[in-house]
Amino acid sequence: MSLAARTGPPRLRHLTHKRTVLGLSTVAVGLAAAHYAGPLTNLAGCRSIAGYGRLREVTPFLWNGPRLSSRAFSSSPSSLLSLTPSLSKLFKFDTASSSQSVMPGLTPPQPAPKWSHTAEDITRLTKEAIEHDRELQDRIAKLKPEECTFESVFLALAEGEAKFDAITEPLSFYQNVSASKELRDASNEAEVLVRDFGVESSMRLDVFETKLAAEKNIKASGRKLNAEEQRLVDKMILEGKRAGLALPEKERDELKALKKELSQVCLEFSKNFNEENGVVSFTLEELKGVPADVVSGYTKRTENGKELYDITHKTPDIFPLFKYAENPETRRRAHESYDDRLAINVPLLDRALELRRKCAALLRYKTWADFVTEVKMIKSGKGIEDFLNDLEQKLRPLGVKEREILLGLKQAEHKAKNLPFDGEFYIWDYRYYDRKFIEESLALDDSLVKEYFPVSVVVPTILEIYQNLLGVRFEEVKGETWHPDVQMFAVWENGAKDENGFVGYCYLDLFPRASKYSHAAVWPLLPGYQRADGKRSYPLAAMVANLAKPTPDRPALMRHDDVVTFFHEMGHVFHGLLSRTQFARFHGTSVARDFVEAPSQMLENWCWEPRVLEKMSSHFETKQPLSADLIDKIVKSRYVNVGLFYLRQLFFAKFDLKVHTDQDATDYTALWNNLRTAISLVKGGKQGPGQGSFGHIVGGYDAGYYGYTYSLVFAADMYATVFKKDPLDPKLGQRYRDSILQPGGSREELDSLKEFLGRLPNSDAFTKELFGNAPSGGVGASL
Ligand SMILES: *[C@@H]1O[C@H](CO)[C@@H](O)[C@H](O)[C@H]1NC(C)=O
Ligand SMILES: [Zn+2]
Repeated sequence: MSLAARTGPPRLRHLTHKRTVLGLSTVAVGLAAAHYAGPLTNLAGCRSIAGYGRLREVTPFLWNGPRLSSRAFSSSPSSLLSLTPSLSKLFKFDTASSSQSVMPGLTPPQPAPKWSHTAEDITRLTKEAIEHDRELQDRIAKLKPEECTFESVFLALAEGEAKFDAITEPLSFYQNVSASKELRDASNEAEVLVRDFGVESSMRLDVFETKLAAEKNIKASGRKLNAEEQRLVDKMILEGKRAGLALPEKERDELKALKKELSQVCLEFSKNFNEENGVVSFTLEELKGVPADVVSGYTKRTENGKELYDITHKTPDIFPLFKYAENPETRRRAHESYDDRLAINVPLLDRALELRRKCAALLRYKTWADFVTEVKMIKSGKGIEDFLNDLEQKLRPLGVKEREILLGLKQAEHKAKNLPFDGEFYIWDYRYYDRKFIEESLALDDSLVKEYFPVSVVVPTILEIYQNLLGVRFEEVKGETWHPDVQMFAVWENGAKDENGFVGYCYLDLFPRASKYSHAAVWPLLPGYQRADGKRSYPLAAMVANLAKPTPDRPALMRHDDVVTFFHEMGHVFHGLLSRTQFARFHGTSVARDFVEAPSQMLENWCWEPRVLEKMSSHFETKQPLSADLIDKIVKSRYVNVGLFYLRQLFFAKFDLKVHTDQDATDYTALWNNLRTAISLVKGGKQGPGQGSFGHIVGGYDAGYYGYTYSLVFAADMYATVFKKDPLDPKLGQRYRDSILQPGGSREELDSLKEFLGRLPNSDAFTKELFGNAPSGGVGASL
């Protein structure tokens, strides 16, 4: 079946989840190895991942993230058990042949970490780290106002958090990769301790007061801090204010109570989301069109002598129905059931929004959106609004055109089948005709493409592309890791002559196994920073993925989509390796959350460039690269129906924005349905409470949904402006290193972008890419 795996048009990779939860030290750089299909599929892969940069920040209010999971994105554990061992030895990394390799015999100036912890070690080391950090804060809190300086307060705190994270992050990581249940459990418990301690730290009024005193003293002394130091001061103070520490006691207590309730409401919402288990039932006749292998997975039962199939609302069950069920009545009924499935969450959302309005008011922000975006690149609710309006206006003509084409398909089909046709395009028609359109216009066979992407070719080639582009070398080193499959690399500057050329460590844990994190994500386990003794602490990034396994008659093969995912994730690895900042909290991917995906999203473009595709592909039998014809089809598939896709994204983003900017409550069910019709150009049926399933809104993406598209705009701009002319040119790679990767979060993202682009960013490249490449115009004529 061509493109059977496709769930929605473009390949929107996940926004990384920078979890700035009440002081918890986490930056996530993760994503589901699947198409992102909007909130209705949920947040799979949008996981908070260990990282650094303990931003003691109070945005999502103790979101301790019960997984909003989807079976669609996880491999079933049983299938993992049969895995052949030592897959990782499938390929060798041959760096020695390079003319400019690293001098042999160099030893990294920082030893690789140990991975031999016992469960007791994990618990003990975590507790010790917490104790140390608490003592440090106690000591700082005892300073007399006149003793508060940049060094005694800000620098001391920055060093404390860097050391704390360097100990606790790797310990929290075991839970996602260790084969030992004991270690995983201990690691999980350790993370809870760390999180609780984060909450405690974020609420320390005494420490906050020393920060204020230090700031005052710095100003009075006329001392000039460098830009990054000043940023540290500003950010640390802002965190305290955002946590409510600058408020009078009564209001502070009020805020605390509101936040507590808010976190409970959000938890309950997600719990309902996770535990939802409704079904919708159809006869075999009604399911006509749905592939037999999908139907065989539905639960069959007999009711009043009639055979019925129960279909859950989970993606792998119900999405094929939306895509393939020929009977529009079936699709409509399934859709209504789907939209209604979390009606139980409606009052919870009402309450959460109410609480957020109150919190924002207490903290003196006009709206919750203003509060949330203050620490994002976009800066204000108004910024989001302008961004979304601009894009909607640009995309609408494209969406209208695509809708016309799909409606034409519908009309023709209804005529041929003698079905009534009312001239409307409904939401339950969207996936069905999107799929039909792709099959008819592209005839691209996913499984054929896959034969050209053996893991053993793709992975080394991608590493080689990155190494050449960014001027670094991966040297595989033997040593302790958390599992025998894992490969460890010392990363050096190209041509390094001495230990100054050391960049950091990278681990690749690429193949599935039982109890391992089941998507693809990067854990930036250690940050780089300037130590107090003047030496540098070097970063470490770990890529965890689940690449395909071989079968008896085929080597491990990757879908094109997997190739894109891998390339994307490696982009995060290099962001984590090639940053050089003074403070750990600004290192690498510790940038604003609405920017953090942009670099990796930009890098995805390499996987759509014909010459790169040719370089990366090699048929597993013939060893031939992809043909020009197949490459052309792959490239075309990227932009199919993108107008409708992004309008749908804009609908989610606008709903998210509106509910977080309006001063008063409203009927959110009506709002959901009306906005959907108005923006995404599809008609709904009965007004269902779809907002009850909008998990993002309680999952840390509140007033943040726009970020998915926002960072894509920068990605497109960066690519078109700088790299498009020669994506493999090391000079451009160096420019990217200097302007984007190196500064990390140590300055405003906009400044990095301006430097890289040579001007302010804009959305032209993004819209041009969609319009210039949308195949719908051309294909429409042939329908
Ligand atoms: C790591 O594993 C723990 C425990 O299973 C889970 O709660 C957490 O979300 C996982 N991290 C990621 C990034 O998925
Ligand atoms: Zn990502």
